[in-house]
Amino acid sequence: MRKKVLVTGGAGYIGSHVVRQLGTAGYDIIVYDNCSTGSPKSVLYGDLIIGDLADLDHLYLVFAQHQFSAVLHFAASLIVPESIIHPLNYYANNTRNTLNLLRCCHVMGVNQIIFSSTAAVYGEVGENPVAEFVPTMPINPYGRSKLMSEWLIKDYAISSSLRYVILRYFNVAGADSSGKLGQISPKTNHLIMSACNAALKRQPQMQIFGTDFPTPDGTGIRDYIHVEDLAAAHLDALSYLEMGGESQILNCGYGQGYSVRQVIERVKAISQVDFPVIETNRRDGDPACVTACADKIHKVLGWEPKYNDLDLIVSTTLAWERGREMS
Ligand code: UD1
Repeated sequence: MRKKVLVTGGAGYIGSHVVRQLGTAGYDIIVYDNCSTGSPKSVLYGDLIIGDLADLDHLYLVFAQHQFSAVLHFAASLIVPESIIHPLNYYANNTRNTLNLLRCCHVMGVNQIIFSSTAAVYGEVGENPVAEFVPTMPINPYGRSKLMSEWLIKDYAISSSLRYVILRYFNVAGADSSGKLGQISPKTNHLIMSACNAALKRQPQMQIFGTDFPTPDGTGIRDYIHVEDLAAAHLDALSYLEMGGESQILNCGYGQGYSVRQVIERVKAISQVDFPVIETNRRDGDPACVTACADKIHKVLGWEPKYNDLDLIVSTTLAWERGREMS
């Protein structure tokens, strides 16, 4: 029998890539999404139910109508500066809604969950690459709302048969090569998107937030992971839980960092557009350098990335953004 999984936030950027891979692998999929930042067009497999995780009655009904073997929980708010301005929304949408989901899992006996967490739970990292056992000290409400969700999952797992894989994403970027999926939320403006927008002349210039970090070229260093590799990690995590694997917290990154200047240089080279770059002050709450120690995910899941290539991340983002221009 085909296994049926619930994917919250499956119409969003990362969720939609995972749904496509789950569909290709033969899973039955129910996507639950309020489409506030995602789009029905991004759901290429399964059935989409438009709903909000805050609506516990509706969520119970969905659980009662389907027999899920596992839940993949992507739905969340994820913009750090917004989380500082509207912290309560972040605790409601991220932490409270994870609690709602766990309540449904409890009542309906669903005992496998894969949770989208973030490198933001680590905060200001002392030493890089950062491993999963390093103490978590998030420095913004976004990171704290995700860490609190991790605690809910861990505490509930202790008192129940729930097994989980918590995946801590580093800097996710890129788009699938078919051109059908990519980032669509206009609110998200990560470094690579911002540079691509400047290359496509959608914005007159781009800014470097801080050139006085203690890094070789003075700009921030991050571990950029291609969204297709990240999606594949979720399928590996699901197989792992299905085979009876015990609960895990795993970093998702390549273990290699690039500075803001290096990223901009690659976007300019690949787009062949020499857009203006303004150097400005540091952004509040930006750590100097965050890269993943990815040993554990390789060992536990046997995860093998296929797209560990900054140029590919940049070129798929550019192709996706160009395609959006034409559609
Ligand atoms: C952060 C979180 C990440 C989260 C993401 C969601 C941490 C360690 N990471 O990523 O988990 O998923 O927010 O929003 O907290 N930059 C510029 N100019 C720009 C844009 C960015 O110079 O126009 C710089 C930033 O200062 C930073 C780097 O580029 O040094 C990456 O920034 P960004 O792409 O926004 O992601 P993070 O803030 O690292």
